Amino acid sequence: MRVLVIGSGGREHALVWKLLQGSQVDTVFVAPGNGGTAGEKGAVNVPVAVDDLDGLVDLARREHVDLVVPGPELPLTLGITDRMAEAGIACFGPDTHCARLEGSKAFAKKLMERAKVPTARCAVFHDAKAAAAHIRTAGAPVVIKADGLAAGKGVVIAQTEEDALHAIEDIMTSRSFGAAGDTVVVEELLEGEEVSLLCLCDGTHALPLPSAQDHKRVFDNDRGPNTGGMGAYSPAPVLPDADLERLADITVRPILRVLAEDGHPFVGVLYAGLMMTPDGPRVLEYNVRFGDPECQPLLMRLEGDLPALMLDAVHGRLPAGTLPHSSRTAVGVVMAAEGYPGSYAKGMTIKGIDTANALPDVKVFHSGTKLKDGALLSSGGRVLCVTALGRDLAEAQARAYDAVKTISMPQSFYRHDIGAKGIRRLSGR
Ligand code: AMP
Ligand code: GLY
Repeated sequence: MRVLVIGSGGREHALVWKLLQGSQVDTVFVAPGNGGTAGEKGAVNVPVAVDDLDGLVDLARREHVDLVVPGPELPLTLGITDRMAEAGIACFGPDTHCARLEGSKAFAKKLMERAKVPTARCAVFHDAKAAAAHIRTAGAPVVIKADGLAAGKGVVIAQTEEDALHAIEDIMTSRSFGAAGDTVVVEELLEGEEVSLLCLCDGTHALPLPSAQDHKRVFDNDRGPNTGGMGAYSPAPVLPDADLERLADITVRPILRVLAEDGHPFVGVLYAGLMMTPDGPRVLEYNVRFGDPECQPLLMRLEGDLPALMLDAVHGRLPAGTLPHSSRTAVGVVMAAEGYPGSYAKGMTIKGIDTANALPDVKVFHSGTKLKDGALLSSGGRVLCVTALGRDLAEAQARAYDAVKTISMPQSFYRHDIGAKGIRRLSGR
């Protein structure tokens, strides 16, 4: 079997690594891939960009690819699944209609309302004056969200009315995120612990993966601006295995039902970002793909044949039951370039990855690296995701940080508290 993975981050490195373990897989092409995927035996990087749909279809045809696995949201919202379907090639991802769940927050809110999924109360505005008038009446705190894709920056938690009005001005009038901000969602601020629930979906059925928790803020103790994610672990004690089915019933399966009714069965990963509030779980957002870095610890734990599962999903025949996974805990720590998520230096030399990978149950996934003349250099803001398995969260965390310490990269940093929230919850503090 020949597979094509689309993307170049840590999530895609983990996908390539796991797909290569599939019993039927001999080659995984990666478009465009990174320094880590280049080093996986059986993987071949091909320089095609994630938004070059024509180039991706040509590549899949030319290489007789049996399964396409898009990593990031962009090719999905642009319609890669529809294009591969036209070419008769299996693609493990939602069609353009379903991808709007991530591409438009207003669309997602409407669907949640129809499907009776619990979420924050909200109002949707296409006009800055009307949004401002609503805020003056409803007051603060309040959450303002640009409707479209804004690279994770389109959400403002406004503590005061003034901040909220400023956010409306910034998003709708100054158009800081371009057309993504022509519509805004204004919603109630929820309190609680966040957790991610990802399900493999075949249009009708949803099989939950174990829970995972991301760390979105750049600095320790959840301080500083939001990032793509500075680390993740699985399972998150706030969402134990015993609750997965119930939560999938509340937050994922109703959405599949509504989409199927509309003639667009959802295939791929449906990711519900949840806030566990004192009044029960609430959906903050949907993603239509694996999260990065949640994917890395999740795939370290998954024990099934991933490419076979993905093909089953595309053909609407995911097996009933639960996904086989290790009972161990996985922790992934992101090493990033200084300055991220703002501007940062590139081209730093990275050393020590082989030493880290030789430690027991450690795998270093590359997020932003490239090989140049045999040397491994940083090429992105998030550079590595150092991931380890352990008997429990404390052991996995210790192993991940021991591995991080064997790696040297100038002008880099990482959070020191990945998994700390889970450890506090487990110890009842
Ligand atoms: P989103 O892109 O909708 O996931 O928002 C990004 C982040 O903003 C989430 O991970 C939360 O930390 C925060 N957030 C979004 N919506 C809310 C809300 N209604 N209440 C509190 N925090 C929120
Ligand atoms: N780590 C969050 C995301 O992938 O959207």
